[in-house]
Amino acid sequence: MHPAFLTFPDPDAVAAEAATRFLTLAKAAIAERGQFVVALAGGSTPERLYKLLATRELDWEKIPVFFSDDRFLSPASRFSNAGLALRLLPLSPQMTFPVPAETTLDAAECAAQYERELVAALGPEPHFDLVLLGMGDDGHTASLFPGKPALTATSWVTHSTPGVLPPPVDRITFTFSLINAARNVLFLVTGANKREKVARWRAGVGSVRTLPVLGVAPTEGTLTVLLDEAAG
Ligand code: 6PG
Repeated sequence: MHPAFLTFPDPDAVAAEAATRFLTLAKAAIAERGQFVVALAGGSTPERLYKLLATRELDWEKIPVFFSDDRFLSPASRFSNAGLALRLLPLSPQMTFPVPAETTLDAAECAAQYERELVAALGPEPHFDLVLLGMGDDGHTASLFPGKPALTATSWVTHSTPGVLPPPVDRITFTFSLINAARNVLFLVTGANKREKVARWRAGVGSVRTLPVLGVAPTEGTLTVLLDEAAG
């Protein structure tokens, strides 16, 4: 499966396109199945998108929100991906599922518990309506870092020691199995620091081990990469 790479002038245009797609998918999923099951991305790129979504009409009571990865930290931490979303979006507390970092001893236990919560909510074969992802300038996505064991995990959720990018905190992450079971996967990738890896990605140069984004290939779902000109 080769992604559809779409290039936009700047990060604001990328966020606007992502917001339009999010709203369209949410409306269709809620009409069809009564809910829109989404996994939000971490890092800084989605911030613009979350600020836009906060101004739109969305029925968050019908949107179970998970996180495609997070750091082994409380949502209260400024480094928490869930914390970013909770600060920017009017999420429904009972429909928001941060990784259970506060009630588990380590990232391994946290990942196992998160998988149990996810399966309890979505069933034994979880299919997200939308998984949002970013890409680090080392080519990682979620917390699937180059050369790390998490790349070959066969569970739905796994854990990882930190990659090369800060913060140096253990991670909990969706695996490729879970990401690739989604109905729609949408990447937001902006910034000149991503250009070299995006070029390799588009050329299909490298392996999942060296360029983890190559491991995202939804079995039946859509795969779209929204780029700004600096990255693309
Ligand atoms: C994380 C993120 C990570 C992120 C990329 C891009 O926990 O760090 O989930 O996968 O999407 O590192 O980060 P930026 O958007 O900040 O460039």
